[in-house]
Amino acid sequence: MDTAKLRNVTYGTDKIFEDAKDFLPLLGTDYVELIVGNAKQSALFYKTAFGFQSHAYAGLETGVTDRTSYVLKQDKIRLVLTTPMEQDGWMNEHLNKHGDGVKVVALWVDDATKAWEETTSRGAKSFLEPVREEDENGFVVRSGIHTYGETIHIFVERGEYNGVFLPGFKKWESHYNPAPVGLKFIDHMVGNVDWGEMNTWVDFYAKVMGFAQIVTFDDKDISTEYTALMSKVMSNGNGRIKFPINEPAEGRKKSQIEEYIEFYKGAGVQHIAVATDDIVTTVTAMRDRGVEFLYVPDNYYDDLKDRVGEIDEDINVLKEHGILVDRDDEGYLLQLFTKPVVDRPTMFFEIIQRKGAWSFGKGNFQALFEAIEREQENRGTL
Ligand code: FE2
Repeated sequence: MDTAKLRNVTYGTDKIFEDAKDFLPLLGTDYVELIVGNAKQSALFYKTAFGFQSHAYAGLETGVTDRTSYVLKQDKIRLVLTTPMEQDGWMNEHLNKHGDGVKVVALWVDDATKAWEETTSRGAKSFLEPVREEDENGFVVRSGIHTYGETIHIFVERGEYNGVFLPGFKKWESHYNPAPVGLKFIDHMVGNVDWGEMNTWVDFYAKVMGFAQIVTFDDKDISTEYTALMSKVMSNGNGRIKFPINEPAEGRKKSQIEEYIEFYKGAGVQHIAVATDDIVTTVTAMRDRGVEFLYVPDNYYDDLKDRVGEIDEDINVLKEHGILVDRDDEGYLLQLFTKPVVDRPTMFFEIIQRKGAWSFGKGNFQALFEAIEREQENRGTL
């Protein structure tokens, strides 16, 4: 593993990576938008199973005729679920090709016009030229660029806006309000790209967005007897936005990345990692509400203490919930992965609790990959 030097300057909890350039200051993830087949029903799933709260709505009742969008919120996370209302158009094409999946990773900025200028002048392909949208609550400026596959980044400047979400949306009041499960913010979002494309997108995030590469995993780090992948993790300067990029590597059988590319019909977002302060409570609630997780064999826990040293949690409790642990030079982390949350074996979620660790659970890769291979075996896609 090759780790870029950390300058160890901190602003609050933010880490400043010395390789990252500051021409594109990002304040955080603004929202993640999925194009789905039935936004109304998906919204119910994310409320019930993931504890998201009803937040905002756009559709016929708000004068929007080409789509219906439900916005869900949990602490700092905003999830937008959008279904096209018309027969043709890019949203339908996206749905037809990819199934339900992430279309937009929106980034919160102070100046969406400058973000667009800085990135497009460095080679980004424009998706949306800066546009000012307003209603009685003020205005926002949004702009957008293409990234891997058909995924896009939208830059959102909302300094002058006091409405519920964006102009065109109204508050979504619901009688059904299941309790949150403790999901706090998006820790990282992982992109899967095709054979030989990882470095293209690593370069994109470095040159176009000013990100620094903070970790590399090669096929020696991430491989089992059968399958392998390679991964590099890109981070913006303050460390709030982290995008690992995966590509398949040669193995004896088909890797999970190849399976993803085959079913998603190209590159796209593989998983959204969400942070919690109490993974045992979060995972217990999610499992009780129907979320399916990947489980490693019980013997994973036999030598856990030797691998990670002293931890605050009771290992028997972690074992009962199938929660994984890994340690790096600054602390440890606890994590667990859901099975795919859509019909195709594509997108899933990671639940992560960091206790000092800044890394991504390398010590769990072997056990996890074997767990994924068992799922692939069941699907006949290994
Ligand atoms: Fe992850």
